[in-house]
Parts: sequence; structure tokens; C-alpha cells
Amino acid sequence: MRILVTGGAGFIASHIVDALIEQRHTVAVVDKLSTGFVENINKRARFYPIDILDDALEDVFAVFRPEVVIHHAAQIDGQMSLRQPRFDAETNIIGTLNVLERCIEHKTRKIICASSAAVYGPPAAPVIREDHPIRPLTGYGISKYTSETYIRMYGEQHNLDFTILRYANVYGERQGAKGEAGVVSIFADRLLAGEAPIIYGDGEQVRDFIYVKDVVAANLQALSLGHCCTVNIGTGERTSVNRLFGFLRDLTGSGTQPVYQAERTGDIKHSCLDNTLAASVLAWRPVHTLESGLASTVRDRAGLAVTARNQTTL
Ligand SMILES: NC(=O)c1ccc[n+]([C@@H]2O[C@H](COP(=O)([O-])OP(=O)(O)OC[C@H]3O[C@@H](n4cnc5c(N)ncnc54)[C@H](O)[C@@H]3O)[C@@H](O)[C@H]2O)c1
Repeated sequence: MRILVTGGAGFIASHIVDALIEQRHTVAVVDKLSTGFVENINKRARFYPIDILDDALEDVFAVFRPEVVIHHAAQIDGQMSLRQPRFDAETNIIGTLNVLERCIEHKTRKIICASSAAVYGPPAAPVIREDHPIRPLTGYGISKYTSETYIRMYGEQHNLDFTILRYANVYGERQGAKGEAGVVSIFADRLLAGEAPIIYGDGEQVRDFIYVKDVVAANLQALSLGHCCTVNIGTGERTSVNRLFGFLRDLTGSGTQPVYQAERTGDIKHSCLDNTLAASVLAWRPVHTLESGLASTVRDRAGLAVTARNQTTL
């Protein structure tokens, strides 16, 4: 299949690109390298270094003629979306609209889009199903839900198949550790550097940590399944931030204690996703345990830390 991956230089989508190429698909990546890295892009993918908001996206569709688009390019920082809601909305809503319009014009068969648990807002249940009320606490949650709504509308009006994947907290190799990136990569890097990670609130807030390779598997399933569906992609397992910290401290062999600071506006107290629908419509279930996923992630980050140290001492 000819598959266009937006955000393919970023954390999650670069793993998706690798898996698609492994399965012998023809892959093109569109990424403006704002938070992604050219080193993440598989050498066997075509790379278009452009913004999804750019008119040049039209040329990419005209030349590459994707059968499927896997859309991951986005502004991903919830705190930034509170400070700069306009920038967030432009990238996530107008950017998605630009991708959608190109899909319609060039008769793309399907769009698979990364959404987020941030659309739900404060949970009314310990584990959230897809029919949970939508009450986002950040511009990011609003922009993700608005994009979902446009995708559904375009899908229904123009016969464009879609699967919307609402991810829980994704972690794994290649995740950024700047700004509001994943708590796992931020904690792991701090512990490996002998520094104290910051925990906002008392650390008893619950998250659903899903390993990136499980997320990749869900995207691969969505190539042929999940017709016009919106599904949660999470483990359904509740892990407190304190417990996560404990796992990472053991894996890094660090003796450091965390520093607790006040809760932040826009942070959801508890978040855990029910994955029953994904099991039925995508025939997908996560297969990686938190312990094994964290161990792979820490090994990777420890290797990066050694390389960075060697480079500065050379
Ligand atoms: N990481 C998570 O825990 C998580 C959870 C829920 C949803 N998501 C969603 O998954 C997707 C990927 O997230 P990620 O964690 O890999 O983030 P990431 O920042 O590593 O990847 C995003 C990529 O998009 C690119 N990009 C940003 N704006 C662009 C633009 N205007 N034009 C072209 N490229 C642009 C960036 O350079 C980057 O490579 C995002 O849509 C995000 O909202 C992630």
C-alpha cells in the first residue's frame, strides 16, 4: 500500500513508519521537524520536510497519491495549548483540515488519526469508555476532539474511511524529554543523570501507560479494520505516578527521591482507558507489560546518555 505518515519524524509515528516498511508498504513522511528528528526517519521512506498547514501538501498528495494517510503531526503539549491556544488550534485543527481536504481531492481510501485521552477531561469512572462525556480541560483536548469531529463529518460526507485512535500515555524509545513530553522519558533521563524528577501533586494520580510498540500494532490493525470507528488505545491498567517513579528508580539503580510540586492547571487527576472496543473492532490487545516496556525504554535512554557524555568529552 502507498501510505503517507504525517509526523513520521516524531516519537510514535517514526515507529509506525519502521513497521510499515518492514511489512513492505511504500511510505512517505511529511514532517516539519519542530519536535521530530530527521534521524528518526527510516531511510527507505520518502521524506517531505513541510508543514501540514502548507499549500505544498497538495504537491505531496499529487505526486505520492496515498491510499491511506496515518495522521500524527500535531502540537502535543497540553500546557502550551493553555498559553497559546491559537497556535495549538492552527496546527491541530486547521492542519488536520488541510490533510482531510487533500485526502478528499486525491481519493485517499482511509485516514487513521492519532487522538488522545485528553478529549475526555475529568473522568466520571475509574476506567473510561469511548461513550464517556467529552469535557476537555485544555486547548489540546479541544483541538483533538474538533479534529475528530471534522474527520467523522468528512468521512461520512465523502466516503472516506477513518479510524480515530484515542491514545493513553504512550512511552518508549525515541520519546522526547523536553517541555511536556512523556513523563517516562523525563523521569528516566533525570534519574540517569542523578537528578530529582518533579512530581506535580501528591503522585497518587493514576495514568494508563501504553508501550509504543503496542500503539504501532493498533495502527497496523487499523489499515484493514476499525471501519469509521473511534477507539481507545490503552492498557486499562491504572498506574500511579509514584508507582511509575518506583519502577524507574529500580531500573536506573538511582537512589534519588522525587521533588513534589503543586498540581498544574489542565492536568487530569486520573486517566485510564477501557480497551474493550479496540479488542472487538481492531482485534487488538496490548501485549507488552509495563515492566518490559520500561526496561527497554531505560536501556535505550541509558545508551543515549552514554553517547551524549562521550560526545561532550571528545
Ligand atoms: N505521546 C503520547 O503520549 C500521546 C498521547 C496521545 C496522543 N498522542 C498523539 O500522537 C501523535 C504523535 O505524538 P508524539 O508523542 O509522537 O509527538 P512528537 O512531537 O514526537 O511527534 C509529532 C511530530 O509532528 C511534527 N509536527 C508538528 N507540527 C507539525 C506541522 N505543523 N507540520 C508537520 N509536522 C509537524 C513534529 O515535528 C513531530 O515530528 C500526536 O498527534 C499526539 O497528539 C500522543
